[in-house]
Formats: sequence, C-alpha cells, structure tokens
Amino acid sequence: MLTNNLLLRAAKGEYVERIPVWMMRQAGRILPEYRAVRSSVNGFKELVKHPELICEVTLQPVDILGVDAAIIFSDILVIPEAMGLNYEMVESKGPLFPKTIQQSSDVTQLTTDVVPNLQYVFDALKLTKDALNGRVPLIGFAGAPWTIFAYMIEGKGSKTFSQAKKMLYTDPQLSHLLLDKITTSTIAYLKEQVSCGVDIVQIFDSWAGVLSKAQYVEFALPYMQRITEAISEVPVILFAKDAHYILKEFGQTNCAVIGLDWTIEPQKAREEVSRKTLQGNLDPCVLYADKQTIKTETERMLQAFGSQNYICNLGHGVYPDVDFEKAKYFIEVVQNYSISK
Ligand code: CP3
Repeated sequence: MLTNNLLLRAAKGEYVERIPVWMMRQAGRILPEYRAVRSSVNGFKELVKHPELICEVTLQPVDILGVDAAIIFSDILVIPEAMGLNYEMVESKGPLFPKTIQQSSDVTQLTTDVVPNLQYVFDALKLTKDALNGRVPLIGFAGAPWTIFAYMIEGKGSKTFSQAKKMLYTDPQLSHLLLDKITTSTIAYLKEQVSCGVDIVQIFDSWAGVLSKAQYVEFALPYMQRITEAISEVPVILFAKDAHYILKEFGQTNCAVIGLDWTIEPQKAREEVSRKTLQGNLDPCVLYADKQTIKTETERMLQAFGSQNYICNLGHGVYPDVDFEKAKYFIEVVQNYSISK
C-alpha cells in the first residue's frame, strides 16, 4: 500500500486533492549527495550496476526534495548493452559505443533475451521498493525504440542523428528489424520491472524531435503502440520530446499519460488529447531564475493545465547546473498550490 499515491491516481484520471510533482532526471545531476556517491565509485557504469548505491541515489530526491515519486536510477542505454552492444560513458561528454550497428549481420548478432543480463536493475528495484516502504510510487523506465535505435546506429549523442536517419531512408527493412528487436527486448525488460514492483513506467523518446511526422508514424509510433499494449499491468507514460506533431496519435494509444516538453501550450495539448492525463512541461531553464519568477511561471502553468488529469513535471530533465534549492522551491510551489485557485 502506498501512503502517497497522488501520482497513480492522477495517472488513472482519478480525483486528486493536490497536484503530484516529480522531475525527470531528479536522481543524480543536481544533488551534492549524489555527487558524493558518484565520486565514491569508478565511473557512471559502476554506479549503474551497484544495486545498493542505486537504491541510495533513487531515494535522495524523495528525502531531500520531497517529490511525489521516485524514479529508479539507471539509464536507457542498459538495453543496447544487454542486447550485446556495449557502451562507455565518457566523463563530462556522454555515451559512446565503440561498435555501432551498420549492417544486417550486426542486427542478427543481437539478443532479445535481455532479462538475465539486467539482473542488477531488478535487484536495485526490489531493494528500492522495500526501502521506500510505500512512501511514494516507484517509476520504472526505458528508452523508446527509436531513441535506442538512434544511439545504436550513431554511436554517440548528436544534434541531427543523421546517421541513424540515413539508415531509415536507405534500409527501411533493416531499420524495422532492429526496431522490432529493441521493442521485444524493451517489453521483456519493462514486464520484469513490473514484477519487481514498479508502479508506473515512462518511455523516453528523447530524440523524437529529429524525425518528420511521416517518419515517426512509420518507424516509431507502431513500436510505442506495441509497448503500451504489452504493458497493461501498470500505467504507461509516453514522453516524446519536441514531437507535439504526434500528440493526437499518442492520444489513441493505450498509454495513461502523455509527457510534454515546454514548446507546447497546455491548452493546445488539452485540445489535441482530451481524455488522457498530461505531464509536464515547465522549461527547465526557469529553475535558473529567482524564486519569484519560478513561482509565477509555475503557477501560471498549473492554472493552465488545471488540477485534475495532470502530473506536474519539467518539460525535460533538470539541468545539471541548476541549484538544488531552486528545484526544491519548484516542488514546494506545486505542493502548496491550492487546487481551488
Ligand atoms: O530520471 C532520473 O533521475 C533517473 C536516472 C536517469 C539517468 N538517465 C541517469 C544518468 C534517466 C531516466 C536517464 C535517461 C536517459 N539517459 C535519457 C532519456 C532522458 C533524457 O534526458 O532525454 C537519455 C537520452 C540518456 C542517455 C544519456 N545518459 C546521456 C546523453 C548521458 C550523458 C549526459 C547526461 O547527464 O545526460 C547519460 C549519463 C547519465 N545518465 C547521467 C545520469 C545521472 C550522468 C552521468 C554521471 O553522473 O556521470
């Protein structure tokens, strides 16, 4: 039983007496307590494979910031690795895949039997679920098939992901084969997360914005649909950054919640999707401003979304150089907001 189940009630469209709030990328990044744990290990990957430390850093934002949900500390890139494509996390640069997917034999070699390779995540989830002791819901997550595909082809971050998009145009058949394998792996991964006690899952399509609508409809949407249909045990949040061209279609999937970035107006999003809970969408840069500005901007957003069928969040992950006191203030503003306003 959960003491605070506001997020789950909002996700299911049930009445809430207060708006739930959490922040994408709340675990890690801004907390000094995270940095202390991070510097006690030899690199990001050591941390990501250490269940006790994962549990510790997952709980930090719940204890320190008072958010209404915990999101398991991990990374979307554990899936390519579990499929057989290793990555490195280069200090202050980001992910790098020494080998990338280029041809059909590379795809054939990948396994979809990923669950045995992700035991460290499942161990961490069980530990964290126990340690939370029902205080707040635990959010599981995975990368969306397109975003994972983009890293597996490109091999690193990119502004354009032009190599990954090139594959869509030059070899659509191979692209679908890889997307299909990623989706199969992701569904198995998410189902196991559910068995370990996660209360809700979010699918991060961080690079949706580099695709045209036609490409999204062909290469991304069907796989998002497959995931939402397969994960029926818990609510699913779909977050496709910079892709409000696809909100109507997301509205027709089985997802419970649609995450929004800050480039769409709340009212416009409500017009596009009338029957789902929406999540978002404060510009993370607002947290660089003074407290009064944070309060004004946040309350304006809350007013625009309305208090029901809504989960408060930023429009993308919190930026690493944001003062955690400002992030904490943002959470307080939401939690002190009277819904009768
Ligand atoms: O939300 C949370 O707090 C849970 C933890 C989490 C991490 N990564 C930890 C992390 C989550 C949900 C992710 C998801 C993720 N990872 C996404 C999707 C969300 C988004 O921001 O769009 C993406 C695209 C990645 C890939 C990735 N991992 C990149 C590009 C980087 C490097 C730069 C950075 O910090 O984002 C990472 C590394 C990473 N993942 C760090 C953390 C805390 C920083 C590494 C460190 O501490 O050294």
